[in-house]
Amino acid sequence: MTPHGGHTEIEHLPVMQREVFDLLRCEPGGVYVDATVGLGGHSLGIMERIRPGGRLIGIDRDKESLDKAALRLAPCGPGLRLIHDNYKNLPLILNNLALPPVDGILLDLGVNSYQLLAAERGFSFQSDELLDMRMDRSQQWTAADLVNNLPETELADLIYRYGEERYSRRIAAAIVRERARAPITRCLQLAAVVSRAFRVRGHQSIHPATRTFQALRIAVNEELEGLEELLMEAFDFLKPAGRIVVISFHSLEDRIVKRTFRRLAGQCVCDAAPELCTCPRKARGRILTPRPLAPGEDEVQANPRARSARLRALERTEATGPEAGNGSVRPEQETWRS
Ligand SMILES: C[S@@+](CC[C@H](N)C(=O)[O-])C[C@H]1O[C@@H](n2cnc3c(N)ncnc32)[C@H](O)[C@@H]1O
Repeated sequence: MTPHGGHTEIEHLPVMQREVFDLLRCEPGGVYVDATVGLGGHSLGIMERIRPGGRLIGIDRDKESLDKAALRLAPCGPGLRLIHDNYKNLPLILNNLALPPVDGILLDLGVNSYQLLAAERGFSFQSDELLDMRMDRSQQWTAADLVNNLPETELADLIYRYGEERYSRRIAAAIVRERARAPITRCLQLAAVVSRAFRVRGHQSIHPATRTFQALRIAVNEELEGLEELLMEAFDFLKPAGRIVVISFHSLEDRIVKRTFRRLAGQCVCDAAPELCTCPRKARGRILTPRPLAPGEDEVQANPRARSARLRALERTEATGPEAGNGSVRPEQETWRS
């Protein structure tokens, strides 16, 4: 039983579906990767569009979500391969499958509604659950480990950096006082400590613990580490005119996506004056979303969780294969060429 009605059948409404399918240009026979399958909403839409003959590789680091997605996607028939792994292993996964260069890659970052609301996984400041927040339960450290063991300054830095929380020092001090009395093991317990430390008067548009919980979630799951490298590597697996679509839910992620896409499009990503800029200006791709796309009002009304979604897309313009002659294709990709 959960505090949300007792069943774990929480529906995850895929965000910005129309934009995702249009930008990925899902076509029958195409080869696609959904690197964040979640509960399979986007994957289902992709499968419907790429049949007959299409192939979809679906990855998620959360085994429980992936099992749910597998049930939902079972009627899709052949062409689907689901893999329990971290998308940071994408190069290894795709090389092992010896696929041809792919038409499109989707990353819908963050957590799914099942993890957040139904699975008792300790992500929510509104639920009386063990403070956990691991997307992959085989991982050792949990949010409770961080909260109870990090030195106060490290805790404050973490909450500031990943939560962009201006009251981080005050919150970290309150956590350290609380844990000296008794370990902080439950979500509501932490939410109450943060709320008391906050002491901001007047109406708040978000719960006072929102940013602290976001920061802990990002830290526990190392969500920002390696995202840029992953995007660069994923790009190498696209065929010419193949596309990568990324949906992020907070500015820290979106900044990394924006910067990486600019780099791949041969644009400047440094802060230097133009005459001092040494950014390589070789365009390998074309940015399809000069400004990130946001969901329409209708979608936000129907699915409030979509409100902070920002979508960016990039198309590969560079050729793959030996004719590219630029060293961008790594040796292990040789297995892709027939
Ligand atoms: C926003 S949900 C995706 C929802 C999905 N598009 C759908 O329609 O149901 C994000 C998913 O990404 C997964 N995820 C987050 N980080 C990951 C990583 N590093 N590797 C693999 N999966 C990850 C989470 O477990 C979660 O299921």
